[in-house]
Amino acid sequence: MVWLSTSAVLLSLTCLSFSIPFKPRQDSSVATAELDGVTYINKGLVGFGFIPSDFRESTGDTLGGIGSAIAFKQGTYQVLSNGSVTGTMVVHPDRGFNIDGTVDYQARQFEIDILLNPYYGSDNLDFEDAQKTVQLTYKRTNLQFDRNGTNTSGLDALAVRPAQDGLPSDPLADPEMPIASEDEPHLTIDAEGLVANSDGSYWVSDEYGPYIYRFDANGQLIQTIQPPAAILPMNEDGSLNFTSVSDPNTGRVGNQGFEGLTLDPINNILYAMLQSATIQDGGASIFTSRYTRLVAYDVSDPTVTRPSLVGEWVVPLPLSSEGIAEACSEIHFVSPGIFLALSRDPFGRGGDNDTSTYKNADLFSIAQATDIHGTVFDDPSNPIAQNGTLNENITPAEYVEFVSYIDDDQLARFGLHNGDPSDETLINAKWESLALAPVGDPDFPDDYFLFTFADNDFITTDGISVGKPYNAGLDVNNQVLVFRVTLPSVIPGSVEKALGIY
Ligand SMILES: *[C@@H]1O[C@H](CO)[C@@H](O)[C@H](O)[C@H]1NC(C)=O
Ligand SMILES: *[C@@H]1O[C@H](CO)[C@@H](O)[C@H](O)[C@H]1NC(C)=O
Ligand SMILES: *[C@@H]1O[C@H](CO)[C@@H](O)[C@H](O)[C@H]1NC(C)=O
Ligand SMILES: *[C@@H]1O[C@H](CO)[C@@H](O)[C@H](O)[C@H]1NC(C)=O
Ligand SMILES: *[C@@H]1O[C@H](CO)[C@@H](O)[C@H](O)[C@H]1NC(C)=O
Ligand SMILES: *[C@@H]1O[C@H](CO)[C@@H](O)[C@H](O)[C@H]1NC(C)=O
Repeated sequence: MVWLSTSAVLLSLTCLSFSIPFKPRQDSSVATAELDGVTYINKGLVGFGFIPSDFRESTGDTLGGIGSAIAFKQGTYQVLSNGSVTGTMVVHPDRGFNIDGTVDYQARQFEIDILLNPYYGSDNLDFEDAQKTVQLTYKRTNLQFDRNGTNTSGLDALAVRPAQDGLPSDPLADPEMPIASEDEPHLTIDAEGLVANSDGSYWVSDEYGPYIYRFDANGQLIQTIQPPAAILPMNEDGSLNFTSVSDPNTGRVGNQGFEGLTLDPINNILYAMLQSATIQDGGASIFTSRYTRLVAYDVSDPTVTRPSLVGEWVVPLPLSSEGIAEACSEIHFVSPGIFLALSRDPFGRGGDNDTSTYKNADLFSIAQATDIHGTVFDDPSNPIAQNGTLNENITPAEYVEFVSYIDDDQLARFGLHNGDPSDETLINAKWESLALAPVGDPDFPDDYFLFTFADNDFITTDGISVGKPYNAGLDVNNQVLVFRVTLPSVIPGSVEKALGIY
């Protein structure tokens, strides 16, 4: 379609929006969600693209894991006059190719230019044409460093670096830090969440600590946030043990750290959420791990080196039909008290089963939830939920289903599917990131594009990991999906502010 003028574009967008063939999801849910009296609308999938699994980035390593965390680089997002949108997405892989054990993979970010040509038609595109809706161009890699410019690592965190003198006022002082070993004292990071700041620095959440780090625009560590004791992985004697290979006595479960990270750009509150319950809160079993925790830090004053914990809430994760908690891989701020949550099973391309039964960008509200920060629950000896039964004095967040990634009709419009056969048209297993940006349609000012990237675990038959070749026996492309959603609670201008484009 050729659009000649802005008014023609607006007209087209309007008509297209009205004519979006919108079917309720097959798994009995609908395309709208009600929360705190507001109706949110899922207008369906509008874009798909991928970077091939064997693509190499500038260090020579395979580019992978791009879905762990994403954020538009400040000031880059643009709505074009023809209705397409562009921007530079900063993506954070986690800790490299670690199927056969963790590797000494330096934490890094990739900058990827993205062009979305949204597709609103009801006809099913073939897989080749579908890929034209999201075009991805790798630009560069930015490596990340510990204090003193030393390399960070992706190795398992087998040792603990003592807290440094100068806490809490010294900006250069860190709390006890996860390091690879006494002999290899490199700070070890398994990055899963990303927030881009207007000064060019980034907040990065991780799974080992689970900590929240701030890196400057050059990738230098400049700040560390340590969560309350209840969340820290502890041995029985209360000492810290950051390994991801075994579970601690209390605190975050191995590999279930701060998957979710997002910023309220209006009040400058940074929110982080655990992937699932802590050990003491039922996290030892997938049948009792649904009550996870969301924490909030006031980051409004950049000169404050130890941002204070200003809120903590319990979020009830959705349950599968077998009663398994669908762990949450990302959150995204929508409006004060309201968040998107990417909760899912681990099935699909690259997973142990080709058939996914739950992959959703859901919504939750903490408006009525109990704020437990600074209470006895921040002590690991006081669980919020024993064996998966929530303490009756705590009101959890309200959680509602919203956008399903595995709607068969929506997937088919882009040449994709869920379940057998396993080929490159099978939807990836591990979606782990969310980013919102305005559609720019004056008739639908509450409409946003929801960008989501998958973590392919670096699975390729032709890979390079820290300079060494590998063959993971399968090719899992780095897939990207874009949905169009109506979010009436968004405060006008706040998404633009978060993107640095106002
Ligand atoms: C740091 O990691 C980079 C790759 O990210 C590597 O080229 C370099 O040799 C490492 N430096 C040290 C001192 O290990
Ligand atoms: C919109 O314009 C951009 C910039 O010229 C172009 O790259 C893109 O392909 C156009 N989109 C469509 C759908 O033609
Ligand atoms: C940085 O270097 C100084 C001086 O060598 C050392 O005392 C300090 O422990 C180092 N800090 C880190 C985080 O490595
Ligand atoms: C952490 O726990 C593991 C498993 O229990 C144990 O082997 C290891 O020695 C512990 N490490 C530290 C630093 O306590
Ligand atoms: C894969 O998942 C589907 C849907 O839950 C289930 O019916 C099937 O038994 C699973 N297959 C295997 C091999 O686990
Ligand atoms: C939790 O379950 C375990 C194993 O079934 C049981 O031993 C324990 O008593 C239960 N604890 C509570 C508080 O219900």
